[in-house]
Amino acid sequence: MIRRHVQKICVPFEYPVYFTKDIFSPENPDFKEAICRSEPNRRHRLFVVLDQGIVDAWPKLAADIERYVQHHRKSLELAAQPVIVPGGEQVKSSPETIQRLHRLLHELRFDRQSFVVIIGGGAVQDMAGFAAATVHRGLRVVRVPTTVLSQNDSGVGVKNGINAFGIKNFLGTFAPPFAVLSDVRFLDTLSTRDRIAGMAEAVKVALIRDDQFFRWLGEHAEQLASFEPEATGRMVQKGAELHMEHTATSGDPFEFGAARPLDFGHWAAHKLETMTGYSLRHGEAVAIGMALDTRYSVEAGLLEPRACEDICRLMERLGLRLWDDALLTVGNDGRLKVLGGLADFREHLGGELTVTLLERIGRGVEVHEIHEDLVVRSIQWLRRTRNIR
Ligand SMILES: NC(=O)c1ccc[n+]([C@@H]2O[C@H](COP(=O)([O-])OP(=O)(O)OC[C@H]3O[C@@H](n4cnc5c(N)ncnc54)[C@H](O)[C@@H]3O)[C@@H](O)[C@H]2O)c1
Ligand SMILES: [Zn+2]
Repeated sequence: MIRRHVQKICVPFEYPVYFTKDIFSPENPDFKEAICRSEPNRRHRLFVVLDQGIVDAWPKLAADIERYVQHHRKSLELAAQPVIVPGGEQVKSSPETIQRLHRLLHELRFDRQSFVVIIGGGAVQDMAGFAAATVHRGLRVVRVPTTVLSQNDSGVGVKNGINAFGIKNFLGTFAPPFAVLSDVRFLDTLSTRDRIAGMAEAVKVALIRDDQFFRWLGEHAEQLASFEPEATGRMVQKGAELHMEHTATSGDPFEFGAARPLDFGHWAAHKLETMTGYSLRHGEAVAIGMALDTRYSVEAGLLEPRACEDICRLMERLGLRLWDDALLTVGNDGRLKVLGGLADFREHLGGELTVTLLERIGRGVEVHEIHEDLVVRSIQWLRRTRNIR
């Protein structure tokens, strides 16, 4: 008798990502094409989840969707009226909203070939994506990301996460979408604060992967800071492409190992978000976390001080603040509270602590030890040089 079999399973994932405009204008075929791509002759059932923020900004959106589906009624059918959920980070800490979606999907008798279409920012994408991923072990999800951050980063990725027990993204699944459709027009109505915050993730992916994109961001910083549509569209698309390239080629899309370069700056960012009760936007916290790890890279002798200055200057020119007083909060043990983010980060990934630092612009480097005294020095440096309004 053979004592040990090795079972090997390879499951390829493939999903189209469209960069489009006026997605629900009946003449635009992209949405229908994305849904019908594997069964063109079927009529597909859709359940649409709308972010309250997008409903407020685009009051005609639900009617536009209905008109679009009606126009393509041979291929598409709405299983119910679109459901509106609150937007923003709080919805990721709302089990009630997730249960509401679960119940609706149950009542609609949704099956694994039915579609959940999620239209909204990264928080709603995460929450509704999690709900859809846990019904029948995963429904088909079509994402329509509507913020700078979700269009250049989370919307094209392979995972979702919700907050629980005071920990950001404590619950979540890996669940690649069926398709992604990014309509740059949605960004027109986004608040200045969210537009700026979302650019942090584009800077991040430039820093760890692509010095040319970093230079491009620098050359277009003024246009980007004033949300000139052409530059904004290019930034979002290039950011998305680099995120996708990383996920496809890093060899570890489902994060089995301990390394996670796309989380550059995130150990401190996630801690700052929870410490401030999410008064900092994710992108805002990421900018501060990246400034901290960039300076740390200098303190650790990995990065030229000049590069650190260039990186901080770029983020400031885009309108990102690189300081928050929460960096100075001290915990009961007398240590800076933000340092607890390192333990949380290690716990989340498992294995050895692995943090991405920079050895130059466009190239990350992994380290397995972070010296608290150098973190403290980096925070002091940020306070001295970047605490400006
Ligand atoms: N799953 C992943 O891989 C991943 C990656 C990065 C970030 N994230 C998560 O994404 C979240 C942040 O997403 P975000 O930056 O998109 O913010 P967000 O989803 O919190 O949205 C910000 C605000 O904008 C509103 N809004 C959305 N689209 C709008 C539009 N077009 N016009 C006007 N208002 C609009 C929302 O209602 C909300 O109030 C965080 O929870 C973060 O953890 C997830
Ligand atoms: Zn992020």
